[in-house]
Amino acid sequence: MILVTGGCGFIGQYVARRLVAAGHEVVALDSLLSQVHLDPDASRAAFPGTVVVGDVADPHAWAGLDPTDALVHLAAETGTGQSMYEVERYRRVNVDGTRLAGAHAARLGVPVVALSSRAVYGDGDPVRATTEDDPHRPVSVYGETKSLGEAELTGLPVPVTVIRPQNVVGPGQALHNPYTGVLAAFVARLREDRPLTIYGDGSQTRDFMHVDDLAALVAWCVGHPPVDGPRILNAGSGTRTTLLQLAAYAVEGSPREDVPVEHLDVTRAGDIEHACADLTRVRAVGAPEPAWSSRNAVVDFVRWAWDRPGAASHTWDAALEELSSRGLTGGSG
Ligand code: UD1
Repeated sequence: MILVTGGCGFIGQYVARRLVAAGHEVVALDSLLSQVHLDPDASRAAFPGTVVVGDVADPHAWAGLDPTDALVHLAAETGTGQSMYEVERYRRVNVDGTRLAGAHAARLGVPVVALSSRAVYGDGDPVRATTEDDPHRPVSVYGETKSLGEAELTGLPVPVTVIRPQNVVGPGQALHNPYTGVLAAFVARLREDRPLTIYGDGSQTRDFMHVDDLAALVAWCVGHPPVDGPRILNAGSGTRTTLLQLAAYAVEGSPREDVPVEHLDVTRAGDIEHACADLTRVRAVGAPEPAWSSRNAVVDFVRWAWDRPGAASHTWDAALEELSSRGLTGGSG
């Protein structure tokens, strides 16, 4: 049996299905947070195993959960912008929750595979891709809590794998949560015939990976615990997409054509300019390489999302407004 924290979430459902396909039983520990789970019963029903409702940062939630094989720790607060003002909430789940996850695995003597984030690196280089040995220079509270969470897992007496995903996209992503990434905002705008809004000139870059490629990597890591100390792995497509390209891919996946792009002179506190994963180590350890290009991953997501219910686009405008009212935005001037 494998315990998957955050198993009912976007990434967790893919990981769980991969683990089940590999012959494992899975149990989720998930808080079914309403910001993420519009319909908690549906999220629960979709999970291919038992769901235990609980908060990873609550020590009592771990009682009685006895994974015999491994612990996959995915539960986290993930909104970069939101982390800048909900500091305590992010610290509690991402740091305290990860400490408890590590302690649980150590108590049972089972390997851990935990998701961190490329946010621990802070801003990336515009040309060179980021390697796992690059220093931690987080610029958001989210990135900081992910970095501290990693530190909670070092020195455990069990095999530890830490994965640092780039921007993960694909079917199943929340369409009503304005604190998730840019693509859900693009889809909401496309559906309402509104122009896409890009913060700045659109030359900033990200590395978009398909969620199933990440799930394949996590499942591989479960089956291949490191033997000589903690293993850190990047996860991404290994390619760079500018925000302007991203907008074009999103339009391509939609039935719309000739969609205007509106540039807003705004920067959000905690935002970075560039991100791209170097996958040399992933290849070196023999882990599966991504099968999806960023373009195809984005198109897959937009096609899936198109006819599904989601929040109206003004919800994202309101999230930006909230940042601005807290003094967490600025002009790029
Ligand atoms: C995202 C994830 C984070 C993950 C990280 C890994 C979110 C909120 N954050 O951060 O959990 O660990 O990837 O790389 O999903 N932008 C626009 N227009 C919009 C919205 C955003 O131009 O309407 C821009 C932003 O300024 C930014 C880029 O899009 O430059 C990406 O932003 P976003 O998707 O919010 O998240 P990341 O900061 O990349």
